[in-house]
Amino acid sequence: MKVIAIANQKGGCGKTTTAVALSAALGHNGVRVLLIDLDPQAHATAAAGYNSAKVSKSIYNVMTKVDNRSCELGDAVLIMEEKFDLVPSCGLLSVIEQEFKDSPHAVSKLHNAISSNLAAYDYVIIDCPPSLGFLTFNALRAANSVIIPIDMGYFSLMGVNKVLDMVELLDSKTGHKPYVKALATMYDRRTTFSEEIIKSLKERFKENLFSTRIGVNVDLRKASRDGISVLRYDMSSSGARDYLSLADEIIESQGEEPFEELESLRIPREEIAHSLDEEEVEVKPSPTRMRTFFNRLSRISRRPVFGKDSVFETLTKKR
Ligand SMILES: Nc1ncnc2c1ncn2[C@@H]1O[C@H](COP(=O)(O)OP(=O)(O)O)[C@@H](O)[C@H]1O
Ligand SMILES: [Mg+2]
Repeated sequence: MKVIAIANQKGGCGKTTTAVALSAALGHNGVRVLLIDLDPQAHATAAAGYNSAKVSKSIYNVMTKVDNRSCELGDAVLIMEEKFDLVPSCGLLSVIEQEFKDSPHAVSKLHNAISSNLAAYDYVIIDCPPSLGFLTFNALRAANSVIIPIDMGYFSLMGVNKVLDMVELLDSKTGHKPYVKALATMYDRRTTFSEEIIKSLKERFKENLFSTRIGVNVDLRKASRDGISVLRYDMSSSGARDYLSLADEIIESQGEEPFEELESLRIPREEIAHSLDEEEVEVKPSPTRMRTFFNRLSRISRRPVFGKDSVFETLTKKR
């Protein structure tokens, strides 16, 4: 069995979308898949068509130490019309860290629960919350590999180094070191900015960057709105195709995972800063920004904003 955690501290970089669509795509290949929703916001649960307020057992019950609430992993599994099973999440999961604050072994809680169900699945996919606390730590401890989704932006790149810090901390505390791989998400081949980020990711991650890139595709949003996987929503959509290609890559790479030193995967600050510059160039000038810009230029150049010899006249003059 292979356990894959999907983690990045940044929200909105495609963790949940990847967790749900990848589970469906792996299942489409005939392997047995379990998706565990480890985010108290329960987005993966909703994207799989369940109301987290109405599920009777969730990953909280699997992990809690409150006896009369606790259950086995197998008891929380929902069998769905999809080609994967789901252990849902619920809001209560957000208090779990409090329950374990005095227990040093709590980091292996999820790992132990999954290990007791080894025979049932070929793949377990864990959707992590957008924070690097107790829950993500448990997911990394349980995982053989970690996928870091990186949407083409600055904060997502920063998230990479934070996940690597956490993997190192885990290694020093438990001796467990999952394999780390980056996945480009929300890739837009029309922008040079996406290309720049891909270039820097390729240099940094080499074979630890999936060759599959997940393009921007509105069907991925529509599918989660409808509570079904993108494969069921529209098998011919580019979102479905991208995640099927990712599943192929994962199945093919089984067993051959060269371990890169984490240090070499770190993204240097200058590269992150460079991508920030690029990102700012792409920001559309709002009227307020323009006004501030003109006022500033007018102050510096000691010229009026409008009229004769003004900043406006200079900037709009045809050359
Ligand atoms: N490849 C994509 N193309 C278009 N929209 C996407 C794509 N991936 C994710 N989204 C949308 O972006 C938003 C954030 O994605 P999500 O997977 O929930 O991120 P996270 O779990 O990291 O917070 C959601 O509305 C989702 O539908
Ligand atoms: Mg999410």
